[in-house]
Amino acid sequence: MPNYRIAPSILSADFARLGEEVRNVVAAGADIIHFDVMDNHYVPNLTIGPLVCEAIRPHVQVPIDVHLMVKPVDHIVPDFAKAGANIITFHPEASEHIDRTLQLIRDNGCKAGLVFNPATPLHYLDHVMDKLDIILIMSVNPGFGGQSFIPEALKKIAAVRQRIDESGRDVMLEVDGGIKIENIADAARAGADTFVAGSAIFGKPDYKTVIDAMREKLAQ
Ligand code: DX5
Ligand code: ZN
Repeated sequence: MPNYRIAPSILSADFARLGEEVRNVVAAGADIIHFDVMDNHYVPNLTIGPLVCEAIRPHVQVPIDVHLMVKPVDHIVPDFAKAGANIITFHPEASEHIDRTLQLIRDNGCKAGLVFNPATPLHYLDHVMDKLDIILIMSVNPGFGGQSFIPEALKKIAAVRQRIDESGRDVMLEVDGGIKIENIADAARAGADTFVAGSAIFGKPDYKTVIDAMREKLAQ
């Protein structure tokens, strides 16, 4: 069985109690904290930045996975690295120089990755596979939590899984959007190993019950 990771998205957490929320979700079994950064330009919503990343950093020992939905990308990368991010992903359409941005993230000591929207073609992978630590497939259009999973994403996950396997490299394959207890196993069967879930976890009173149920589905 692959090394599956559950990555709760704090987009659906209670921002008035964020420190407590991240501590609770890690105690409930989260492997990674997924941190959604939206700029009201690349996506039509506005969320949180490096200051909030820095504020939650002392509360958790697990990696913080910063999903940048911002344009431009580069100038914010060092700020997130300094704020304690471990993984930084960005959308290739939002960067003028994708290779440079990937290198910048790595030079700042973080794992680097590309994010693919439902309609973004995979050709962006063509010349940068050796600079990727993670590939994130969006199963909703980015901008909001609580949307429905787009089933077409499963084919894309499978195509990326094949490319990762062919590369022989250890690249995480993350899926983000509409992941729930009911569909997490479908995403795993397609080849994902890291599962972002916002509303499915933070929308329920007991985070451990949800995370345990997700792991049970992954073990079947
Ligand atoms: C959407 C974000 C997701 C979102 C997932 O733009 O990137 O991380 O928070 O939320 P759910 O799991 O509710 O779809
Ligand atoms: Zn996200």
